[in-house]
Amino acid sequence: MASIAQTTISPVKGSFNLSNYDCVRKSFDWEDASKELHFWESGKVNAAYETIDRHVVDGYGDKIALHYINENEKRSLTFSEVKEKTDHYGRILKQHGVKKGDRVFIFLPKTPECYISILAVIKIGAIAGPLFEAFMEDAVKDRINDCKGTVLITDKDLVQRVQRADIPSLETILFSEDIEATPVENDREEVVEWLGKEDGLIIHYTSGSTGKPKGVLHAHRSMIHHLQSGKWVLDIKDDDVYWCTSHPGWVTGSVYGLFAPWLNRATIVIQGGRFKAENWYQLMEDLKVTTWYSAPTAFRMLMSQGDLFKNYDLSSLRHILSVGEPLNPEVIHWAWNNLGLRIHDTWWMTETGGHLIVNLPAELIKPGSMGRPFPGITVGILDDEGNELPRGEVGQLAVRAPWPGLMKEIWGNKDKFDSYFKYEGWYSSGDLALQDEDGYVFFQGRSDDMINSAGERIGPFEVESKLIEHPAVAEAGVIGKPDALRGELVKAFITLRTGFQESEELLEEIRLFVRKNLSAHAAPREIEVMNELPKTKISGKILRRKLKEWEIQKVQ
Ligand code: WT7
Repeated sequence: MASIAQTTISPVKGSFNLSNYDCVRKSFDWEDASKELHFWESGKVNAAYETIDRHVVDGYGDKIALHYINENEKRSLTFSEVKEKTDHYGRILKQHGVKKGDRVFIFLPKTPECYISILAVIKIGAIAGPLFEAFMEDAVKDRINDCKGTVLITDKDLVQRVQRADIPSLETILFSEDIEATPVENDREEVVEWLGKEDGLIIHYTSGSTGKPKGVLHAHRSMIHHLQSGKWVLDIKDDDVYWCTSHPGWVTGSVYGLFAPWLNRATIVIQGGRFKAENWYQLMEDLKVTTWYSAPTAFRMLMSQGDLFKNYDLSSLRHILSVGEPLNPEVIHWAWNNLGLRIHDTWWMTETGGHLIVNLPAELIKPGSMGRPFPGITVGILDDEGNELPRGEVGQLAVRAPWPGLMKEIWGNKDKFDSYFKYEGWYSSGDLALQDEDGYVFFQGRSDDMINSAGERIGPFEVESKLIEHPAVAEAGVIGKPDALRGELVKAFITLRTGFQESEELLEEIRLFVRKNLSAHAAPREIEVMNELPKTKISGKILRRKLKEWEIQKVQ
C-alpha cells in the first residue's frame, strides 16, 4: 500500500453551519437539489435564466452580483443590471441571426463583459465557447474551426489574434466595446429561449495525450450539479463575497467562477490582470472576500512570499478551496498555521462538469488526499480489466456514470467520447489513485502523457505539432518535468534538421515560436537537443515515457 498521510485536520467550527452537512452522506437525491429552480420540473429550462433572472424575479435584483477590479478600474453590478445586460447582448446576437444550438465563441479578458457574453449566448439557446484570454492565433483558430463557430464576441485588442480568413464558418465578429451602445430593434422581444435539459450549454476545449484539443460539450442539466456543489462544497451563503481566480475559458472559471456561485446568488469577484501576491491580498482585504477558490500553484507562490499576508486584513476570509493539481500537505499546513484556515481540495475534470471528489466543510481533511466522493457519486479504483481493486491499492480512478454534470459529448468525435466508458458502467478519468478505508482518495499521477503545469492541462501532441512547424525542428517529444512550484513544467526534447546548429538563440527562438502561435502556458520552458529520440520498435512512435524516466532520474 502506498504511504498516506498520518495527520488530519478537523473541521473549523464557527464559520460553517456544520449541521447542514450531517445528513449529506446518508440520503441524497440530485432531484432534491432542483426544488429552488423555477423551471426544472417543467422540463423546459435555461441555465442563464436560473443563474441570473430568477434572482431578480425572486426580489434580489438590487443585490450586488459582481465586483470587478483590475489595476485601474473598479465597478460593481447588481443582479438586475446583469439581467438587463444579458438581455441586451442576447437581443444583439439574435439580430445577427444566432439561433438555438449555434456555437458562439467568447474571446475576452476577465471582465464583466466576458461573463455577460457567456450568459447572453446561453440565454438565447446557443452554445457558449469561452476561450482563455492568453490563447494565440492557432489555439483560437483550431477551436472555432472544430465546432464551426459562427459568431465571435471579442474586443479590439484580442481580435488581432483571430485569423478570420482561416476560419470559414465565422460569419460575424462583435466587439464588446460596441455592443452596449448598439440599439436593439425590438426591446420587448422575449430573450430567454426555453430548452430541454439535454440541450447544449457550453463547450470547453481540453487536451489529452494524443491529437488536438477536444470540444467537451455540456448540457443544461449540469446546472443541478453546479447548484448543489455550490451549496455543499463552496458553502455559499447570502452574505458571501466569493472569488474564483480562474478565467471562464477554463471549466473552473465557468462552472465555479460563474454558474455555481450565481445559481446560489453569491456576490462574485472578477479580477483582471496577472498574478501578483500583493494585489491578491489587497483585493481580499478591500472586497472582504469570504470564500476563495484557487489552485496549488497560486498557493505555493503566496507561500513563497512568507509573511507578506501579515500586512493585510484577511479576517473576512472563512473558506478556501483548491483544484486542478495535487495539493501538497505542506501548503495545507501553511494555510492552517498562518491563516488559521483549512484548504479544501476538490477533484474533477473538464469532462465531469462538476466536483466529484471533495472535502466538505464538515469533514476531516487528510492532507495529501483529494477528499471523498461527493454525495450521490461512487468512485472505483479499477485494474486494467476494469475490475474493482481492494481499498489501498493503486489503480485507474473511475466514477459510476452518469451524474448530472457529466459531459454530453465530445464534439464530432464519438470514438473519443466512448473511450471514456471502456469499462461498462464506469467513466474512466485517466488518473491513477488509491482509496483508503475511510473512502479518502489519494492522487497518484496520470496513466497517460497528459501534462499538468500550474493546474493547466497541456496535451504534448499539440506542443509537439507546433514545434515541428519550426524550420529547425525535425522531431519533438514533450513531457511534464516535475517542478516544485508549477507541479510540472513543459519540457521538449527535439532533434534538429540538417544545417541547423544548436545555440541559445535558436532554442529561445523555438520557444517563442510556440509561445507566439499557441499560447504562453504551453510553450516549453526547457528545450533539450538530442541526436535522436527514443521510439517504439514497431510503429516508430516517440516514447515520451522514456523521456520522462530520464528526466526524473536526472532530478533525483
Ligand atoms: C485533471 C483535469 C476541472 C478541474 C480543473 C482541472 C488533475 C484536477 C486535481 C486535484 C490532483 C487534480 C487530474 C485531472 N486534477 N484536480 N485536486 N488533485 N490532480 O481540470 O484541466 O480538465 O484537468 O487535472 O489529473 O484528470 P482539467
